[in-house]
Amino acid sequence: MNPLSGKHIVLGLSGGIACYKAAELARLLVKAGATVQAVMTEAAGQFITAVTLQALTGRAVVTSQWDLREPNAMAHINLSREADAILIAPCSADFIARLAQGRSDELLSLLCVARPIERVPLLLAPAMNREMWAHPATQRNLMQVVADGAVSLGVGCGEQACGETGDGRMLEPAEIIEELEAFFTPKRLAGERVLITAGPTFEAIDPVRGVTNHSSGKMGFAIARAAREAGAQVTLIAGPVHLPTPRGVARVDVHSARNMFEAVEQHAPTATVFIATAAVADWRPAAVALHKIKKDGSGAVPQLSFVENPDILAHVAASPRARHGQLYCVGFAAESEDLLANASAKRKRKGVPLLVGNIGPATFGQDDNALLLVDEAGAQELPRASKRELGRALVQQMAERMRGRQ
Ligand code: CTP
Repeated sequence: MNPLSGKHIVLGLSGGIACYKAAELARLLVKAGATVQAVMTEAAGQFITAVTLQALTGRAVVTSQWDLREPNAMAHINLSREADAILIAPCSADFIARLAQGRSDELLSLLCVARPIERVPLLLAPAMNREMWAHPATQRNLMQVVADGAVSLGVGCGEQACGETGDGRMLEPAEIIEELEAFFTPKRLAGERVLITAGPTFEAIDPVRGVTNHSSGKMGFAIARAAREAGAQVTLIAGPVHLPTPRGVARVDVHSARNMFEAVEQHAPTATVFIATAAVADWRPAAVALHKIKKDGSGAVPQLSFVENPDILAHVAASPRARHGQLYCVGFAAESEDLLANASAKRKRKGVPLLVGNIGPATFGQDDNALLLVDEAGAQELPRASKRELGRALVQQMAERMRGRQ
């Protein structure tokens, strides 16, 4: 289930051009299963209308502490008591300054000050011009606000509405959602260093051709995201895929199985969990032609011969740290038939405590999947769901098994 499902979020908008992104953010929050109560400052009203947010959230937007629709005339108390979190997006330089001073002369800053500080987190998505962001006063105020218990989600870097380029853009709505989902996820993998391989590998034949497979990397990326949400430090070694890096995840891009093997060897000694989701090519062409192989007009076809690639998972699983329980290894099996028998045999062959089976042709490139978890106790099905949800469920299952081993 999405960690935002059933959460009540007070979405506060302060004045800034990034208000236009707050509409998309509200929509994504609702889509994730949250209820959203928008609160706007007067300045926010210069950039977006309450009508837009009301239509997207299905709730009347509150803009004033003098709103007479509140029967007890205490909007600041009612709103802050109901919230599971208050998210200010966009959070302007002025609003950060107001929070730093504990100002309460308009509704949004008033309800931040009035919130039960231990129970209702305050999350900020700052948005402003790069000079304003870099200004010592802004940074000083933000440090103060964070010291007072707020969480800054950080800013993006890039082109700004003013035409300048640098730090200070509001994070994209999807990035804010990622941060929020992580915020609400129990930290089951706190302290763990998780290494994940994902995607296909590409084995070159010549400078323009190669052998690869249909793996999209989506499952591995979803697991990386879920592991980070659960508090792990995550390194993702990705074959050639077209996927954005999950927030907070360190990514290493590789091409061939041998590149992937080298990257894994470099990171495995400090990892505590290794999850091999990559569809590593079992073989590679024995020789890579230096130049593009040309047709010579005779109809002769190139004769390719192959050599076996290193088995990355088996190699890691056989390492002393894995054998002594310091590195928990999880393998995947992409099968086309008889999943239970093949996955059980593969688990033993690879020497891993947990092997996750799936039907390759039914999952490659798809957004959903079904998994079969095989360990020494038997098999357990994770029924068809989105890869995002399965990533979370798998992380939970892994965390339970790892706890059981301690
Ligand atoms: N794997 C790996 N290195 C390889 C081959 C596979 O690390 N050279 C890992 C995969 O990431 C996966 C597991 O081993 O976690 C099983 O991969 P799979 O391709 O299903 O199995 P193979 O060992 O290649 O066996 P087969 O293709 O014969 O089913």
